[in-house]
Amino acid sequence: MHRDKCGELRREAAGRKVVLAGWVHRVRDLGGVTFVDLRDASGIVQLVLRNGERLAHEDVIRVAGTVRLREAPNPSLPTGEIEVEPSEIEVLSRSQPLPLPVAEEGTPSEETRLRYRYLDLRRLRMQRNLRLRHRTCLAIRHYLDREGFIEVETPMLTRSTPEGARDFLVPSRLARGAFYALPQSPQLFKQILVTSGVERYFQIVRCFRDEDLRADRQPEFTQLDLEMAFLDDPEELFPLLEGLVAHVFREVIEAEISLPLPRLPHAEALARYGSDKPDLRFGMEIADVSDQFAAGPIQPFALAVASGGAVRALPVPGGATKSRGELARLEEKVKGHGLPGLAWIKLGEGIVSSLGAHVPGEVLASVAARAGAQTGDLVLLAAGQPTTVSVALGDLRSRLARELGLIRPDCWGLAWIVDFPLFKEGEGRLESEHHPFTSPRDEDLSFLESDPLRVRAKCYDLVVNGVELASGSIRIHRRELQERVFRILGIEREEAERRFGFFLRALEYGAPPHGGIAFGLDRWVMMMAGEPSIREVIAFPKTTTGACPLTDAPAPVDEGQLRELGLRLEP
Ligand code: AMO
Repeated sequence: MHRDKCGELRREAAGRKVVLAGWVHRVRDLGGVTFVDLRDASGIVQLVLRNGERLAHEDVIRVAGTVRLREAPNPSLPTGEIEVEPSEIEVLSRSQPLPLPVAEEGTPSEETRLRYRYLDLRRLRMQRNLRLRHRTCLAIRHYLDREGFIEVETPMLTRSTPEGARDFLVPSRLARGAFYALPQSPQLFKQILVTSGVERYFQIVRCFRDEDLRADRQPEFTQLDLEMAFLDDPEELFPLLEGLVAHVFREVIEAEISLPLPRLPHAEALARYGSDKPDLRFGMEIADVSDQFAAGPIQPFALAVASGGAVRALPVPGGATKSRGELARLEEKVKGHGLPGLAWIKLGEGIVSSLGAHVPGEVLASVAARAGAQTGDLVLLAAGQPTTVSVALGDLRSRLARELGLIRPDCWGLAWIVDFPLFKEGEGRLESEHHPFTSPRDEDLSFLESDPLRVRAKCYDLVVNGVELASGSIRIHRRELQERVFRILGIEREEAERRFGFFLRALEYGAPPHGGIAFGLDRWVMMMAGEPSIREVIAFPKTTTGACPLTDAPAPVDEGQLRELGLRLEP
C-alpha cells in the first residue's frame, strides 16, 4: 500500500493529495470539527475531520486527503504549518480504552508498563530510545568493521562460564541429567576464536547472569564483546577502544570526547574518590591529612594513624552553611561504613570545627587548604582503615555532589581504571578480581605464589560518570601460567581439567598473546539516552524479581515436558 509519512509533510506539500496511515495520537472534538493527531514512525500530523467519524486513542486508521496550510501554525511540531483534510477514512483496527497513556507522560507503574509493553513502546520517548540503541549498534559495527574486526556468533547453549554470577541452566533431553548453561559472557569462546586465527573478533551478544537486579543490571543483558590477537600491554589496545568510544558518542549524540582518556590506577581511584568507579564529572577529591593528626591532640585520629590507618578529608563546596542536623545525617552514613564518627571544619567568616579548641587554628587551616577548600566550604574528616575511610567519604562525595547540583548534565567523566590487583580476598580463599583468565603483570610474576595479593593484573575498566561501562584484560595465553593461577584460586588440576580442559588444550596448539574487553551495551545506551535505568533502553526487560509481565515468564511447565527431561519437582 502506498503511503506518505506523517512526520515529513511540510509547507511545500500544500495542495497535494496524500495517503496516510497510523495511530490516533490525540483527539480534540470541538463540536462540528474534530482535530486528530495522527502518528506513525516518522512523526505526527494534524487531521481535520468535519464529518464526525468517532475515533478513539490508538485506533489505527488510513486516510486519503489533501494537505492544507494551517490558519494557526503550531511551531512546536515539525509539521505544524500544515494539516490534512481527509476525503476518506478507513478504520483498520480499533483500540480498547488504554491502561496507560501513550500521548501523555503519565506515571503508570512499571508492572503496567511492562505488561502492556506494546503501548509503552509506542511512546515517543521509548521510540527515541529504541532508535538510539539501533544507531549505537550501527556506529559500533561501522567502526569495528573499518578496523578489520569481524562479528562471529558464539553458542547460547554452552557450559558454565566463570564470570562469578549464578548460571541459568537448561536441562538436556538427549543427555538426561546433563545441563547446558546460558553464557554469562562469551569469554572462553572469544579466546578460542583468537586462537582459531580470528585476529580481531567482536560480537554484540546476549549474556545471562542470575544475580540480584539493580537499575543497571538485568538477568539478560547485551555486551559489545571484543578480542584481539598479538597484544601484550593494555596500552596497545586503548587507542583503538578510545577511538571507538569517541566515534559512538559523536555519531549517536554528537558529544565530543577528548582523547586520550585519563588513566587512573586502582589504588589511587580508591584513595582519591573512594570508589573503583569514580564519578569524574566533579572535583571534591579526598585528601590524606594523616600527618596533620599523627602527633596531635585528637586521640582517635592519632591512634588510627599509629595503627596503620589514615585521616582523610572531603571538601564540600559551599557547605559551610550546613546545619547540625544535616551534619548528623552525614555522620550516620559514615557510621554505616563501620567508622566511629565524622568530624568537620567550616570555613565561614572564621574557622569553626567540631574538633573545637583542641586543634590549633593553623592546623585546621592547613587541613582545609590540603583538601582544596575555600571560604564558604565545609571539610569532612574521618579516621580509620584507609580504604574504609575513603569509601565512606566517597559515598558522601557522590551524595553531596548530587544534592548540591555539582554534576553538569552535558559533561562526560570518562577514565581507564588500571593496575587492579589480580586477586582479592574471598571467603577463606583468593578470588579473581576480574576473572581467572586475566594475565598478571610480568614484573609481578615472581611473587605469584609467595605474595599473591601484591600481584597486579593487566586488566582495566572503563568508567563513565561513576558507572562501570566496560571491563577487560590481557589474557594468559600459556597453559602453564593458566594452571598456576587456577591453583592459587584453589582450582586443582583435576577440577581445572574437568571444567576448563577444552580451553587449556586450546592453549597448547599455538595460542597468540591476546586481550580484549566487553562493554555493557545497555548501560552505554542508557547513559547516552539520559535514562535512569537500563530497563528504559531494553525493549522487553525483566522486573526486579526477574519476571516478564508481558508473557508471565517464568511459568510452570507441563508434567510431560518435565518427564521427557527426566526431571521431577520437589513438592
Ligand atoms: P564483566 O563481567 O565485567 O566482564 O562485564 C562487562 C560489562 O558488562 C556489563 N554488565 C552488565 N550489564 C547489565 N546487566 C548485568 N547483569 C551486567 N553485568 C555486567 C557491565 C560490565 O562492565 N568477559 C568479561 C569481559 C572481558 O574480560 O573481555 C566480562 O564479561 O557494563
